[in-house]
Amino acid sequence: MGEGSVGIGLVGLGNIGTGVVKVLQRNAEVISERLGFDLRLVRVSDLDLETDRGVDLAAVRFDSDTDGLLADPQVDIVVELIGGYDVARRVTLQAIENGKHVVTANKALLALHGAEIFDAADRAGVDVAFEASVGGGIPILRSMREGLSANEITSLHGIMNGTTNYVLTEMEATGEDFEVVLKRAQDLGYAEADPTFDVDGIDAAHKLTLLVAMAFGARLTFKDIPTEGIRGLAPVDFEAAERFGFKIKLLGIAKQHEDGRIEARVHPTLIPATSLLSHVDGAMNAIAVHGNAVGPTLFYGAGAGELPTASAVVADLMEIARELRRGTAGRVAPLSYMPHALRVRATMPAGEILGRAYLRFTAVDRPGVLSHIAGALGERGVGIEAVIQQSRGEQAESVPVVILTHPAREAAVRDALQEIDRLPDVTAPTLFVRIEDET
Ligand code: HSE
Repeated sequence: MGEGSVGIGLVGLGNIGTGVVKVLQRNAEVISERLGFDLRLVRVSDLDLETDRGVDLAAVRFDSDTDGLLADPQVDIVVELIGGYDVARRVTLQAIENGKHVVTANKALLALHGAEIFDAADRAGVDVAFEASVGGGIPILRSMREGLSANEITSLHGIMNGTTNYVLTEMEATGEDFEVVLKRAQDLGYAEADPTFDVDGIDAAHKLTLLVAMAFGARLTFKDIPTEGIRGLAPVDFEAAERFGFKIKLLGIAKQHEDGRIEARVHPTLIPATSLLSHVDGAMNAIAVHGNAVGPTLFYGAGAGELPTASAVVADLMEIARELRRGTAGRVAPLSYMPHALRVRATMPAGEILGRAYLRFTAVDRPGVLSHIAGALGERGVGIEAVIQQSRGEQAESVPVVILTHPAREAAVRDALQEIDRLPDVTAPTLFVRIEDET
């Protein structure tokens, strides 16, 4: 490569891909002023060559020849924006084999196949950058790799899925059921037709997998992250949480314990209504990172969307382009730790997690029921901090009974719930939501 521009090949011209073209074109001047040279979009490949995306591709070779793009000597950096696992994995590995640097937004791919991809990139001496895969436009990964690199990270707590945060915010504001709000989110384009990845917490767990690796130097551990989604929440939970001074958010949580074990989990969480994260509403994302030197930090912004995500993709392109010009590819390890320093880290089983819990029982309103519930908890050393029982409606046989526990081991609470959910007067499985006081 000479003194001219750096060549970009884009695979996948969907929503984010189109955003990347827009940012490269609209912001060409500022990008060039910051780099000292141009980023030049050389080729784009996609199976759909018909749809008008509202971008001018006259100066770009646009076809379906992805293999040709991956082998094109004019392409220095490949942007993989196909999504999914199989084709994206093949494209990424082929690009690396061809000596191209890769930028991707694909958290699912990296959470599951990251070890293979990062190892291949390390052997080939190329960069893999993925800022857009976590927190959309928020520069959280760059901050972890560089701005916070002098710290031992002790914990992180993040709202890292915009779809679920939108649904939870709406449920709280309107008192509507999950299914009603989800349908509206789908109609408005906030949620996909198949919302499974988002509402069941899988997307957040993919992102947390990457953050855990970057925070603690842990080998990627997607399968070890206990994950729960938001389907079990009902309007009554938001009312009860508010009465106790909490909001409900789907959090990705990761902590490093003094014995070296790591705790990582994704689940709906009650957090104090006074905490900064509790004010992150709608489709926004925020990630709070605690470092042992810097203390608490908070990163907030749009976690999805065409232009915010493209902002992160193009920033990665600029970083790699700078390194190409200086001959310093691989300057910072992609997962923030040198590959040889990434270790399999022992994880703390969920049963050992110590914290307060929110429990919503569904029980027949009859004398003695509450004492059975309290007894089962008390026998296992789980103390009760507060109770709310809703009054009986005209027709209702069963009523919600909400209990906040004192700090207890999760295994003890789960064990008590097994016994409680078998009681004849308990008519539906109990909802168990963890409380996180330090967000
Ligand atoms: N579906 C994700 C979200 C955006 O709702 O936050 C892409 O990761």
